[in-house]
Amino acid sequence: MNSEDILKALSVVIDPDFKKDIVTLHMVRNIQIENNHINFDLVLTTPACPLKEQFRKQCTEAIITAFPDARVLINMTSETTSIRSNEINILPNVKNIICISSGKGGVGKSTVAVNLAYTLQRMGAKVGLLDADIHGPSIPHMLGIKNIKPEIRDIKGKHYMVPIEKDGLKVLSIGLIVDEYQALVWRGPMVTSALKQFITDTLWGKLDYLILDMPPGTGDVHITMTQTVPLTGVVIVSTPQQIAVADARKAIAMYRLQNVNVPILGLIENMAYFTPAELPNNKYYVFGKGGARQLADEYEISFLGEIPLIQSIMEGAEKGLPASEEFEAIDSIYKEIAGNIARNISIKNEEKLKEQSTIPANAE
Ligand SMILES: Nc1ncnc2c1ncn2[C@@H]1O[C@H](COP(=O)(O)OP(=O)(O)OP(=O)(O)O)[C@@H](O)[C@H]1O
Ligand SMILES: [Mg+2]
Repeated sequence: MNSEDILKALSVVIDPDFKKDIVTLHMVRNIQIENNHINFDLVLTTPACPLKEQFRKQCTEAIITAFPDARVLINMTSETTSIRSNEINILPNVKNIICISSGKGGVGKSTVAVNLAYTLQRMGAKVGLLDADIHGPSIPHMLGIKNIKPEIRDIKGKHYMVPIEKDGLKVLSIGLIVDEYQALVWRGPMVTSALKQFITDTLWGKLDYLILDMPPGTGDVHITMTQTVPLTGVVIVSTPQQIAVADARKAIAMYRLQNVNVPILGLIENMAYFTPAELPNNKYYVFGKGGARQLADEYEISFLGEIPLIQSIMEGAEKGLPASEEFEAIDSIYKEIAGNIARNISIKNEEKLKEQSTIPANAE
């Protein structure tokens, strides 16, 4: 039994997203064989891959089928894909920039952004979180970092901001730098130029995902931002309520405008239903049922998952410790959503890379 035999055995394992086998996709690396012990790396396109355990099982089965005595040890690792570094020089070390957006205010963008950032990090990714809501920054409160001032570093005469490290996450918020009352009177162009600086003049370092918590609405700031900073995609948050759904529809339309054109990674239904702690099997649809899911179907957008209205989610935001860190049930909801987002990003990146590779080099 040699490496070639192992690769042959593993070539029956198909990646369902890329519709090719894992050997052709160069996911199997560093094969080591010692007697009947077989070790290898399986390189995934994201550390948050929801198919990790499925791959582990299929690979083990494939080898055992070919070599019944084999003892298989798979080292799951990842190289997060990116299309950003190929096309621009703004933050080439940040592989994916995702913005969390909604039409309507107060639907839970910031809460979702914070919990997703923690969850992606716990799944093994390097994550940054930027509070882009200049007029109502809530991240400092939600992470309990309100009174920390980011360091300003001078590099060759140019000033850069250093994000605050909170539990391994890199975080920056306009609320930490600019007086909140002062920022209230800023006009659109000032807001956009400040935000741009927060992205380009900040030492974010190497990140798999930079999450932008956007302000509510579909205004000038949103459009200019998306044109200034090439984004990987946007996640739309909505409650099931028709008023929120109507505004989410406007947000989808805006991101799909030809001059904006940001891929929509999917839709999250927040506050989908209420479950009292003492009656965990009861669901009360206080904001209506499934409005956001229907919207996703209507626009053929991926439905990323639903998050119930839970008192501890609100309390976590109040006390500066995300509920997904504390409660297993909430963690598993966010894990599923984070996995779906990471998976959709990998698929979109792959499609884009394929498109780029089919364009002749001398094409106009
Ligand atoms: N699933 C949930 N269960 C319970 N409370 C929640 C949930 N999601 C959000 N909240 C609470 O709802 C309120 C609004 O949430 P959040 O600030 O995240 O919304 P937002 O969309 O960012 O608002 P804005 O548009 O003002 O930026 C907060 O008090 C938050 O704690
Ligand atoms: Mg917010």
